Amino acid sequence: MPEPGPGEVRIRIHVSGVNPTDWRARSTVAWPMPYLEVTPHHDGGGVIDAVGPGVETLAPGDRVWAMMAAWGHNTGTAQEFTVVPASRVRPLPENASFEVGASLGVPALTAHRALTVAEDGTRRLAPKALDGSTVLVAGGAGAVGHAAIQLARWAGATVISTVSGPEKAALATAAGAHHIVNYREGDPAAEIRAGAKDGVDVIVEVAVAKNIDLDLAVLKSYGTIAVYADDSPKVELDILRNIQLNTRFQFLVLFTDLDRMAAAADDVTEAVRDGAMGVGAENGLPIIRFPLAETAAAQTAVQNHAAGKVVVDPAA
Ligand SMILES: NC(=O)c1ccc[n+]([C@@H]2O[C@H](COP(=O)([O-])OP(=O)(O)OC[C@H]3O[C@@H](n4cnc5c(N)ncnc54)[C@H](OP(=O)(O)O)[C@@H]3O)[C@@H](O)[C@H]2O)c1
Repeated sequence: MPEPGPGEVRIRIHVSGVNPTDWRARSTVAWPMPYLEVTPHHDGGGVIDAVGPGVETLAPGDRVWAMMAAWGHNTGTAQEFTVVPASRVRPLPENASFEVGASLGVPALTAHRALTVAEDGTRRLAPKALDGSTVLVAGGAGAVGHAAIQLARWAGATVISTVSGPEKAALATAAGAHHIVNYREGDPAAEIRAGAKDGVDVIVEVAVAKNIDLDLAVLKSYGTIAVYADDSPKVELDILRNIQLNTRFQFLVLFTDLDRMAAAADDVTEAVRDGAMGVGAENGLPIIRFPLAETAAAQTAVQNHAAGKVVVDPAA
């Protein structure tokens, strides 16, 4: 049983969330794992079990969600008990399940960052923070896309989501998108323009190399393309078109600015408290559950693009 040190808490993990970064960490040279062995997963929902010296904001018995649990050390949430710095833990409001808690970390913080990088835009999210703006979420049935739809909607934006077919359209609709567009058929630019006649302010982009022409066809002048995934090693840019549009490209990786991430975690917790961050098929993110002993299979499911949130249940 690990003991929490100064500033740390021990959490009994009820649900551990799996993200692409978990399989990438052991499979790619781009993000080499700094340890020979890890107990994986950054995200989790659970209950505080013990607190270390100096921790005053959390107490045993508190329901919490954890983020970045395995970042900077080799032990994450895929276990019954984990120890993390209190700064990477937030209260899990009573109205939210442990599955919600396990689905927030990487996806919601990435989505928050993508929604707060516009040149003159807000750096924080709250109700009304995005009033009057239009957000295009590429791939709204994905884990990050789902969180982006929910946070953008909570913050007052008009939300348009692209999807690859009817099943994912149903998920993005359940997540709260106002308009759904199939990016594989018809004239997606015209359909997006139908929901945003002046163009979109922010694009939360999962596949910029494939979508760049569509993005530039619908982006407003001074609009932002927030790129969080590498669908291809390179993207070709029409420089003049981008100059004419004043396009702002913001490439982003989550594991960098800890202060900004802490602020985002506070905003996400408020969104949860407001009931805006639901999971499950009825909220556009089916839960796909694996027992702890099948953690490897859970990561493979994420690698194979399972439609929904893959979680591991340490108690099973
Ligand atoms: N930069 C960071 O810090 C950061 C943080 C989190 C995640 N990521 C990365 O982001 C990626 C997505 O993560 P995730 O957890 O959201 O994965 P996910 O749940 O598998 O979702 C990916 C979604 O993208 C959709 N998609 C694929 N090609 C598309 C296209 N051309 N246009 C629109 N949608 C498209 C997929 O659906 P269809 O194929 O059916 O369209 C799927 O719904 C991963 O590569 C992950 O490593 C990066």
